[in-house]
Amino acid sequence: MRFADRTFLVTGGAMGIGAATVKRLAGEGARVFLADCNKRAASKTMDEIRTSSEQVTFMYVDLSDAASIESMGERVADEIESLHGLVNNAGIFRGASVAATGDTDWEPQVAINLRAPALCAKALLPLLQKGPGHIVNLSSEGAFKPYANRWVYDATKAGICALTRNMACEFIEFGIRVNTVSPGWTVTEMHFGTGPDATQKKTMLENHRFDGAVINRLGRPEEIAAAIAFLLSDDASYITATTLHVDGGRVAL
Ligand code: NAI
Repeated sequence: MRFADRTFLVTGGAMGIGAATVKRLAGEGARVFLADCNKRAASKTMDEIRTSSEQVTFMYVDLSDAASIESMGERVADEIESLHGLVNNAGIFRGASVAATGDTDWEPQVAINLRAPALCAKALLPLLQKGPGHIVNLSSEGAFKPYANRWVYDATKAGICALTRNMACEFIEFGIRVNTVSPGWTVTEMHFGTGPDATQKKTMLENHRFDGAVINRLGRPEEIAAAIAFLLSDDASYITATTLHVDGGRVAL
């Protein structure tokens, strides 16, 4: 129960890595705000935790919309006086080739993956100062490995590492540490979706032999959540401005 008496906010907490993180933090005694735009998926995750609504609270937010993030900050401040951690987890992936790029191709990905983490930190900064609260931002192996046809996503994820270093330098005066977790290919709704064959696809991915990593399988959301929880904890008291790769050795190959 290392997070008893602590309060965290996790963006994109309804599904995948975010849901696993909400479960992990709540399981260790924290109060958690689950911030997401998908109320139905959030309810399902909260039902799975089987906890009191006081321990896990749903906060609607559309991270593509700056006003919605500001409003979320105000609603959280109405409920609590200090925040011990912010996990900027939510992200979306859209394929994008450079050759076919149009004027609007980058807008949702840049807004949700890169601008929103900065705006969430800004909106919650007064509460984080009082914690002090630590911040974990989610990058991706795509920031470190060459791929075709995903330049916008990979650029936003590379930007997250720069944002983390900037935030770390700016916020250390408040005692706030800021780090990046960079997952490898992880079995989440991002990959198996919510279509009719989702369960089958999930099982297939969980059993997939993956030669692209030192550990020859895909990651589990709980394994990413464990690293996020570590960086939020006092065990990481001398760690800031860094990137923790949780990818089975993917970027080492
Ligand atoms: P996911 O697609 O399973 O879940 C994303 C969550 O974000 C959902 O709950 C969704 O409702 C929420 N969300 C999306 N757009 C939103 C918006 N506009 N406003 C509010 N909430 C919104 O994603 P997954 O796989 O759990 O990924 C989590 C993070 O990890 C993302 O930043 C992703 O880029 C990163 N990542 C994931 C990898 C993977 O293989 N799954 C690999 C590397 C990085």
